[in-house]
Amino acid sequence: MKQAGVTGLEGVIAADTFLSYVNGSEGKLVYRGHWAKELALHHSFEEAAWLLWKGRLPDASELKACREQLAEGRRLTPALKTLLDAIPSQVPLMSAVMSAVAASNPGEESSAWPPRFHEAIRITAMLPTIIAYRYHQISGTHWPVQADEQQEHAAYYLHALFGHPASEAHTRVLNAYMILAMEHGLNASTFAARVVSSTESDMYSAVGAAMGAMKGPLHGGAPSGVITLLEKIGSKEQAEPVMREMLENGERLMGFGHRIYKTRDPRAEALREVTQALAGEDKWFDLAIHTEQAAIRLLAEYKPGRQLFTNVEFYAAALMRSVHMPIMLFTPTFTAARVVGWTAHILEQSENNRIFRPQSNYLGSLPSE
Ligand SMILES: CC(C)(COP(=O)(O)OP(=O)(O)OC[C@H]1O[C@@H](n2cnc3c(N)ncnc32)[C@H](O)[C@@H]1OP(=O)(O)O)[C@@H](O)C(=O)NCCC(=O)NCCS
Repeated sequence: MKQAGVTGLEGVIAADTFLSYVNGSEGKLVYRGHWAKELALHHSFEEAAWLLWKGRLPDASELKACREQLAEGRRLTPALKTLLDAIPSQVPLMSAVMSAVAASNPGEESSAWPPRFHEAIRITAMLPTIIAYRYHQISGTHWPVQADEQQEHAAYYLHALFGHPASEAHTRVLNAYMILAMEHGLNASTFAARVVSSTESDMYSAVGAAMGAMKGPLHGGAPSGVITLLEKIGSKEQAEPVMREMLENGERLMGFGHRIYKTRDPRAEALREVTQALAGEDKWFDLAIHTEQAAIRLLAEYKPGRQLFTNVEFYAAALMRSVHMPIMLFTPTFTAARVVGWTAHILEQSENNRIFRPQSNYLGSLPSE
C-alpha cells in the first residue's frame, strides 16, 4: 500500500560540502568556486578532477603528476585481466564493472580507512580500462594493446573502446561531457558512496555501492532511455504524436524532469553548445532539438505546475550519438566521469566522519501491551 509521508528525502540536507553548489531554481552549477560550464569548455578532465579532489586547479607540476598517476592506473594488469575474464559473459556490463572495481581493493590493511587520494586516482584511472576491456569481451573484439596510456583521459577512453586514436573533436566533446557529469551534489549515487564510506568501509566498496545506485534507470540509466525515445520518434513530424501518446499512457519522457532543477539544467545548456559545434547537420542532433521543444510544450500541458525541463541526460544522449558511443556504454561512461565526484565526496566525508543513521517512521500496528 502506498503511504503518504516521508519519501525521497527531498529538501533534506544530509552533509556539508565544499565540492559543488547546485542551485536548481536559477540553474547554477559551481565546482569549488568555478562555473562547471567554463571548466567544461576550457579545461581538461585532469584539471577539473584535480580541482574537485584538491580544491584548486593544478599547477604545471601537479598536472604532470596527475597525468602520470592516471597513466599508471590505466594499465591492464594481469590481475585485472584475470578478474574480468572470470566474470561470466551474461553478467550485465555495469554489474561486471562494479564487481571488478570492488574486487580491485588491494587488500592492504592500510587501504581500508581513511580513504586516500592515491586510491581516488587509481579507481578513476582504472574505470575506462575496465569498461573498455569488458566491452571488447562482450563484442568479441580485440583489446587494443596499442592504446597509449599516456594520452589525456577522454582520448585514452575513446582509443581503448574503439581501437584507434580518437579525433580531436570527439575527444573535446567527450572531455566536456565528462567534466559536466563529474559532480552534482548529493545525488543518489554520491549519497550511497558517502553512506558506505561513513561506516569506515574502504573506497572501493563505497564506489561499488555508488555504481549500484548509478545503474538504475531513474539515475544513470536515463541516457539510454533518451535514445530509445528518439528512436521511437524517428522523425520530427512524429515527435509530438509519439510523446503525446506516451504521456496519455502515463509514461515518463526520459531526459526531462529533475529533482533539483526547476528550470533548464545548466549542464544541458553547456552540452547543447558543445555538441552543436560538432554535430552540424547530424540527424540525431536536429531531432533532439526538435524533440526537446515539443517535449517541454507537452510536459507543460500534461503536467502543469511541475516545472519539467530538459535534464543533462537528454543532450548527453545526443553527444554520445555523435561520438558513436553504443547505448550499452552510456551509463558506464557517465560512471567513468562521476567517479571523480564520488571519490572527492568519500575523501571529504572522511575529514569529519560520523556514520549516517537516519530513522524510519513506523506506520504499522503495535501489539497490545
Ligand atoms: C528525474 C526524476 C526521477 C525526478 O523525479 P521527482 O523529483 O521524484 O519527481 P516526481 O517523480 O515526484 O514527479 C513529479 C510529477 O512530474 C511527473 N514527471 C516527472 N518527470 C517526468 C517525465 N520525465 N515525464 C513525464 N512526467 C514526469 C511525474 O509523473 C509526477 O506527476 P504527478 O504529480 O502527476 O504524479 C523524474 O523527473 C524522472 O523520472 N525523469 C525521467 C528520467 C530521467 O530523465 N532521469 C535522469 C535524471 S538526471
